[in-house]
Amino acid sequence: MGKILNLLFCILLSNFIISYAQNCSSYSFTNNAIYATCVSLPVQNSHLYWTYHPTNGTVDIAYRHAGVPASQWVAWALNVDGRGMIGAQALVALPSSNGSLQAYTSSVTGYGTTLQQSSLSFGVPVIRAENSNGDVVIYATLVLPGGRTSFNQVWQSGPVSNGAPSAHAMASENRNSLGTVDFVSGVTGAGGAVGGSLLHRRNTHGVLNAVSWGILMPMGAMVARYLKVFKVAHPAWFYIHVACQATAYGVGVAGWGTGLKLGSDSEGIEYTSHRNIGITLFALGTLQVVFALLLRPKPDHKYRIYWNIYHASVGYAVIALGITNVFKGLDILDPEKKWKHAYIGVLISLGVIAAILEAFTWFIVLTRKKEEKQQVPPGNGAYASNGYGHGHNQEA
Ligand SMILES: *[C@@H]1O[C@H](CO)[C@@H](O)[C@H](O)[C@H]1NC(C)=O
Ligand SMILES: *[C@@H]1O[C@H](CO)[C@@H](O)[C@H](O)[C@H]1NC(C)=O
Ligand SMILES: *[C@@H]1O[C@H](CO)[C@@H](O)[C@H](O)[C@H]1NC(C)=O
Repeated sequence: MGKILNLLFCILLSNFIISYAQNCSSYSFTNNAIYATCVSLPVQNSHLYWTYHPTNGTVDIAYRHAGVPASQWVAWALNVDGRGMIGAQALVALPSSNGSLQAYTSSVTGYGTTLQQSSLSFGVPVIRAENSNGDVVIYATLVLPGGRTSFNQVWQSGPVSNGAPSAHAMASENRNSLGTVDFVSGVTGAGGAVGGSLLHRRNTHGVLNAVSWGILMPMGAMVARYLKVFKVAHPAWFYIHVACQATAYGVGVAGWGTGLKLGSDSEGIEYTSHRNIGITLFALGTLQVVFALLLRPKPDHKYRIYWNIYHASVGYAVIALGITNVFKGLDILDPEKKWKHAYIGVLISLGVIAAILEAFTWFIVLTRKKEEKQQVPPGNGAYASNGYGHGHNQEA
């Protein structure tokens, strides 16, 4: 019984290994090189092939990035002492203006690097690169340092400007191109920095902010604009508006806090406009809440009209910035398309409801004016009681 289970387990395992390695092993190199092991890396269409020589602790590798534009630089690196970009001991393939592909090594010391040529912390006796049918392949021999065989790895590609590599994009493919590699066992691990808790926190940040600034706040504004036209909704609309915006603001502050924390934890990664909009948004939102509680003039105050204009304009600005930033965040987080579609769906629904209510509001206001003209002697409060111009100030 035990033997049969063992056998089944072996078959399962070998199936798994074969199917995992299948894609990259079907590739034939231009020099017909054969490697003992290959793995397809999880992002950026990349594959790593290698043969490890235990006798002298070297490994022959081929890193292949499939379907990369000929104008882009490509790099693959081991990070011996750290993780991610800083400390990466990189092999770089850089297209030069005469059409040839230069291969060299670069030790990365800062986020502003242009991948200048420099020696690595371990020997690289052989390095060359080629572009074959849109696949960039870097061939190298590495003298693995300190007898180690397991490392963090990172790989990347990006644009070239003035003949030198410039900063790569920040899409999820670029942020998730790191992991581990063990040259003996052949096992590679994905992620690390963006896996697990960081990704979870990014998602939490996204959901909190999309719901608060991106959905609840526009709904709260619609309550203020459209419910107050109904006489029966007095004074309820005001309290619903306050409750809606207070909830949105509370959740929004939590979302904002998670954003600040993410920013301080993601050293070297800056989303300047997303951050600046977020800060502006938070400042304006706070101003709205504080001023609404402390400074709002009484309904019959002569400055009340200015307050109304101010409060509505800042409110609309907050909503516009909020929605903009949700989209910016969606582009950064780059989740499955359905989330963006869902958010667009919510916005369209709110827009349609707002359009209908806007038309309805005008209809009611105009009808009331007409009735009042007929009932009330002319020049007597015809506009003060239309429920829209002044009437909504009664509660506030
Ligand atoms: C397999 O390799 C081919 C050619 O390199 C590539 O186009 C395809 O996307 C790969 N498939 C998977 C599942 O990695
Ligand atoms: C390491 O050993 C392998 C065979 O075991 C040999 O083919 C290779 O040339 C050696 N590499 C170096 C850099 O000495
Ligand atoms: C192309 O330019 C690079 C430097 O930019 C040089 O090293 C290389 O030899 C050149 N190749 C040809 C074929 O001219």
